[in-house]
Amino acid sequence: MKAVVIFYSLEGNTRLIANTISEELKAEIVEIKPKRQIPSSGLKKYFWGGKQVVLKERPEIEEINIDFSKYDLIVFGTPVWAGRFAPVFNTFFNKYKIRDKRIALFCCHGGGKEGKTFIEFKEHLKGNEFIGEVDFKDPLKRNSNDHILKAKEWINNII
Ligand SMILES: Cc1cc2nc3c(=O)[nH]c(=O)nc-3n(C[C@H](O)[C@H](O)[C@H](O)COP(=O)(O)O)c2cc1C
Repeated sequence: MKAVVIFYSLEGNTRLIANTISEELKAEIVEIKPKRQIPSSGLKKYFWGGKQVVLKERPEIEEINIDFSKYDLIVFGTPVWAGRFAPVFNTFFNKYKIRDKRIALFCCHGGGKEGKTFIEFKEHLKGNEFIGEVDFKDPLKRNSNDHILKAKEWINNII
C-alpha cells in the first residue's frame, strides 16, 4: 500500500498529527502552503481566517509536485476554521482532482468539534472510498502524547 498524508497547519497542531501518521504508515507527506500565510497570533487570525471561510476564498498555494496516481491511500488533515476545513483546501480541490482512492480524514479543533469539516471533504472527494475520520482537540496544547497514541491507533485500525 502506498500512502500520502496531505495537510495544512497554521499553528502546528495538524502538523503534529500529520507527521505522526506519515511516520506510522511510512508514507510521504505533503504540506499545503499558502503563498501568503495569515497571521498566526492574536485575534487577527480569526478575522482573516474567518473571512476566507465566509467568502469561500481560494487563497493561492505553492505548487504541489505530486503524482496522485501512485497512491492507494490519501490521508487529509486540516484545522477546523469556522466549522469547516481551512480554505486552502478550496484551492487544492479546485486544482487537483482525486478519484478512486481510499481516503482517511482527520482534523484538529479548539473544542468546537469538527462541524461540517468532514462533510465538506466528502463533497469535494466524491468518487473515492472513505475509510475513517477522527478529530483531535488542540493536540499541541495538552496531553500531546495521548493524541499521538490516538492518531497511531486510529490509522492502524482503519488501514
Ligand atoms: C480562523 C480560525 C477559525 C477557527 N475556528 C474554529 C472552530 O470553528 N471550531 C473550533 O473548535 N476551533 C476553531 N479554531 C481553532 C483551531 O481549529 C485549532 O486551534 C486547531 O488545533 C489549529 O490547528 P493548527 O495548529 O494545525 O493550525 C479556529 C482557528 C482559526 C485560526
